Formats: sequence, structure tokens, C-alpha cells
Amino acid sequence: MLIFHTIAEIREFVRQARVKGYSIGLVPTMGYLHEGHLTLMRQAKKQCDTVIISIFVNPTQFGPGEDLASYPRDLDRDAAMAEGVGVDAIFNPAAEEIYPSGYSTYIDVEQRITEKLCGASRPGHFRGVATVVAKLFNIVKPDYAYFGQKDAQQVLVIKRMIADLNMEVGVVTVPTVREHDGLAMSSRNVYLDPEQRQAALSLSSSLNRAAAEVRAGERDAAKIRQLVIDLIKAEPLARIDYVEIYSYPDLEPVEFIKGQALLALAVKFGRARLIDNIIL
Ligand code: PAF
Repeated sequence: MLIFHTIAEIREFVRQARVKGYSIGLVPTMGYLHEGHLTLMRQAKKQCDTVIISIFVNPTQFGPGEDLASYPRDLDRDAAMAEGVGVDAIFNPAAEEIYPSGYSTYIDVEQRITEKLCGASRPGHFRGVATVVAKLFNIVKPDYAYFGQKDAQQVLVIKRMIADLNMEVGVVTVPTVREHDGLAMSSRNVYLDPEQRQAALSLSSSLNRAAAEVRAGERDAAKIRQLVIDLIKAEPLARIDYVEIYSYPDLEPVEFIKGQALLALAVKFGRARLIDNIIL
């Protein structure tokens, strides 16, 4: 497995793969890999001849006061994990490689998609995500790119961008990977102390409870949302950022659940802000 730090190097690697007629899969990550990322990579290996992952803690998707500086980073550990699942190359650029001095171009996906849920509590977040993902697509030119359903809104933003800008990349979405007790895997789980980690189980358990209510016939979105809020608030360590239900994939407000709906939440435990969701 090769590790590249410059755009010129990864482009040359891609060029050589293309000469051999290889298809290319890209797994964009911010590193500090976990089983969720490895699942994306394994899926990419099944579908593509060459698998490239990017490891880049993208500064433009962090707001002031967020955890950009403290975001966990460990390239050696990540490289060993990626190699273990057969990744061919890692693209690990420095911030100046992606955003050189004078950098001035950003991608804003319509507010209808980006200004609710995580976009409401993290203004500018999806502008940063769309911009860096578009740049990674332009640099690597993958046939397929792999994203986790845990970031459901991110996937919708990226799909919208691809459709609107006529990008030739197929998006493969992989179901959320969970710990044995239901906690959604996240690089930010390392911030949790044992007590907070225990309390954070309320996220997946409340989502499952909501899904069970819907299966049992409940359709009132406000009631389901309130149930989830009450279950999470029962944990004194939890600070709710949002719990929302929108139609899926359109992200329109819903009063009564008819078609598919996205129940999504973001909750803080100490300095860890965790997200999770379920499709109802
Ligand atoms: O999901 C993430 O890790 C990031 O948002 C992504 C897609 C790698 C862009 O920086």
C-alpha cells in the first residue's frame, strides 16, 4: 500500500491504474479509522479494482469552537488498518495542499437540504463537506465513492451535488456499523469516558424504540420525536442538540409518517457530539 501526500502523486497513481483499465473506488475519511470505515473499504474492494482512501481532517467543515485541533489523528495506525483490508493507496494531504493561499471557491448545496439537522447546529459544515468532497472527486476521479449511512444528511448533500454538477461518480451508501451494544461507530467515541459511553447507548436504544412504535402503528411524528427526547433526557449526561423527523430522502417536514422518514439526532456527552439516525 502506498501513501501519497501531494495531488500530483495521487494523480499519477490514478493515471497508472487507468492505463491498466482498473476501476477506482474512493473512501473519503478524516482518519482515526474504525470498523465503520473498514466496512466501506471492504465494500469498495468488492466493487473496484483499485481502492484509494483519503485521510484529511478538513478544516472548512469545522466551525469556530469545534474540535478541529483535537480531532484524533494517527496515520500509522490508520495505514496498518487500511492495509489490512487491502486498500491500495492512501491520499493524506496537508491542509495547504487542498486549500493553498488564495483559495476562494466553495460549493453551497441548497439551504433546503443543508440548513436543517446538522446544518442548523453547524453553520457552514456542509459547505466545507461538499467543497472537499468535490475536490477529492476531481483529484481522484473515482468510479464509486463510499459513505456511511450514519451521516445520512451528508450522503444526501453529496448525492445532490453530484446530480446538480453532473459529476460521474456513483455513491455507495453502507449501513451504519455499530458496537456490540448498539453504539454507532464514530471516531469521536474516543472522547467518551465510561459513564458517558454508557449514557450514549440511549441514542440507538431510543431510535430502536421509535422504530418499534412505528411498526406498531404510531404515525404521529411529534409523538415519536417526543418519545425519543424523553428517553434521551432520562440520561443526565446527555445534552440534546436536535432530534428531528423529516421525510426521506426529500427532508421535508412531516406531521404524519406516510412514506419513508428519517429520524435523526445529535446529542452531546461531555465534549463528544454524537449523531445517529434510523429510517422509519
Ligand atoms: O464523513 C467524513 O468523514 C467527512 O465529512 C468527509 C466525507 C471525509 C469529508 O471531509
